[in-house]
Amino acid sequence: MKIALLKEQAAGENRVAGTPETVKKFIALGATVAVEAGAGAGATIADAQYADAGATLGSRAETLAGAAIVLGVQGPDPASLAGAAPGAWIVASLNPFGERARVDGYAAAGYEALAMEFMPRITRAQSMDILSSQSNLAGYKAVLDAAAEYGRAFPMMMTAAGTVSAARVFVMGVGVAGLQAIATARRLGAQVSATDVRSATKEQIQSLGAKPIFVENVKGIEGEGAGGYAGEMSPEYQAAQAELVSAHIAKQDIVITTALIPGRPAPRLISDAQIASMRPGSVIIDLAVESGGNVEGAVAGEVVTVHGVKIVGHRNVAGRLAADASALFGRNLFNFLSAFWDKEAGKPVLDEEIGDAIRLTQGGKVVNARLLG
Ligand code: NAI
Repeated sequence: MKIALLKEQAAGENRVAGTPETVKKFIALGATVAVEAGAGAGATIADAQYADAGATLGSRAETLAGAAIVLGVQGPDPASLAGAAPGAWIVASLNPFGERARVDGYAAAGYEALAMEFMPRITRAQSMDILSSQSNLAGYKAVLDAAAEYGRAFPMMMTAAGTVSAARVFVMGVGVAGLQAIATARRLGAQVSATDVRSATKEQIQSLGAKPIFVENVKGIEGEGAGGYAGEMSPEYQAAQAELVSAHIAKQDIVITTALIPGRPAPRLISDAQIASMRPGSVIIDLAVESGGNVEGAVAGEVVTVHGVKIVGHRNVAGRLAADASALFGRNLFNFLSAFWDKEAGKPVLDEEIGDAIRLTQGGKVVNARLLG
């Protein structure tokens, strides 16, 4: 059973889907591992470290030759996978809604594409959840990016020359990324508030020492959709939220938005008029910029200034911490494949609950219920 670990091809992608640690662990399971030369360079992992862990290094063609499992961070171009075994598993973050043509390409080539971001949010799959591991790092990095762009300090400082007041940080969307952003901003000494549509997050916000800002007494405030994710909110709720947020945002120095709705464009949370109400020099970080953006005027891959406010739209924020992001992503993939490893078969065999959730293509067809609608 050969596992291929590919070098990422997407521009600006510094992560890698496996580390020397996970290579060793796959070999201990009985697999052989081939690594494309240079795969770890962006994450500061040298080829020699993979070789020391027991992998063979080679060209892309050598790496893929006969591989039954292909590991990537982002979905590889189906045309770049020649030589992989018939029916090979392609295990990566496949962006199934955004990259539908690529999914069709995996089907046409007879591969079994497994989308790691479709992993169900169930207890036993927590250690396999790439969305959690990457969001956690993105939430942390978002605060550091904000601090770097902000021309003032985060903590209150009392100096002989006078007092510097604490930065006010507002986090919108308190999932995995938002919780980490709250914790990080608090550690830097900011005064933090946060909001979400899921009322269950209120206590989590308070337990991190931040102030919850919530819409009350409007139909649909529970806000929780399937699988612990947010659903789309009613027009009535959206109007109440906009009003509440407008008053609050005008007093904030830093706003970090993280709101996503699976399979849909990100909800618009901040309008141009709200940006205009903020103090010049304020900073907004839009972590949802690649899914359509929470902030009006945010541009993916750019830092733009609107009404004197900097709007930061970095792409692939977890990838800006490539070494840690790769280590966690690689472990997610190992935890997933090893949990299903069948010793007799010498390969993983998926069960229905997880297999059906993440499998996009099989036997030449697209088979995933979420894609078949
Ligand atoms: P996400 O990345 O899908 O969304 C980020 C946050 O934005 C969510 O908290 C969501 O409620 C919020 N949001 C959506 N629309 C909004 C709006 N209009 N205004 C304000 N906020 C809005 O969420 P993430 O981080 O993936 O977490 C979702 C849930 O899944 C959480 O309850 C988390 O604890 C749970 N989870 C469970 C796991 C497991 O059991 N395996 C693993 C990871 C997360």
